[in-house]
Amino acid sequence: MMDETRVDSYIESLGSPAPAYLEELAKSAGLAGIPIIRPPMRDFLRTVILMHGPMTILEIGCAVGFSALYMREYAPEECRITTIENYEPRIAEAKANFAKYDPDSRIRLIEGDAVEIVKDLGEAYDLIFMDGPKGQYINMYEDIKRLLPPGGVLISDNILQEGDILESRYAVTRRDRTIHSRMRDYLYKLTHDEDYSTSIVPLADGASLSVRLGT
Ligand SMILES: C[S@@+](CC[C@H](N)C(=O)[O-])C[C@H]1O[C@@H](n2cnc3c(N)ncnc32)[C@H](O)[C@@H]1O
Repeated sequence: MMDETRVDSYIESLGSPAPAYLEELAKSAGLAGIPIIRPPMRDFLRTVILMHGPMTILEIGCAVGFSALYMREYAPEECRITTIENYEPRIAEAKANFAKYDPDSRIRLIEGDAVEIVKDLGEAYDLIFMDGPKGQYINMYEDIKRLLPPGGVLISDNILQEGDILESRYAVTRRDRTIHSRMRDYLYKLTHDEDYSTSIVPLADGASLSVRLGT
């Protein structure tokens, strides 16, 4: 039987460090209890970005801007990143971080509820990174699909919900039931959608990697 905690630690030990200012940012986010992408997810995101070379990225869930700045490091210089956050204290911190580390304003922060904001976006995005409200992925499904052209890549983070996703609805705490069933619906829909090719990647807290099919 594989010990998943040890496997996770081993994978993490093989990860590449982020640039020094981002390691500092990750450290202070960790101390403040702000959830940001874990090291294996960083490596995964970096590799996808280097392979795919997106010119436009949409991120749902900015927090204090760590992952947006991380993606900025590896995306082509002309790439523009749009990120959405609704929690005021994090918005203020993200703005300060972007002012400091994104001098040429490649990152645009939209403030507010991502579920509403995506309805009004019209631009196509080469890469969409879902790292926001897990219970709302399903409610953003059609808008995200509309914003992703053929060849576009969709990554959704934290889909395994620390293993809860495997459990029956009644085995998860009442508090987590809605999010559990919505995430299951989201994953079912995504993996059975003929307009996507999707792979579930059991990395860190789980991610899905999809490419939009068609011409
Ligand atoms: C896991 S954190 C994002 C971490 C970030 N991507 C990183 O790795 O640096 C998720 C963020 O989504 C935000 N969020 C939750 N619900 C939201 C909503 N409806 N609209 C916009 N942001 C939301 C939370 O406030 C939180 O900061």
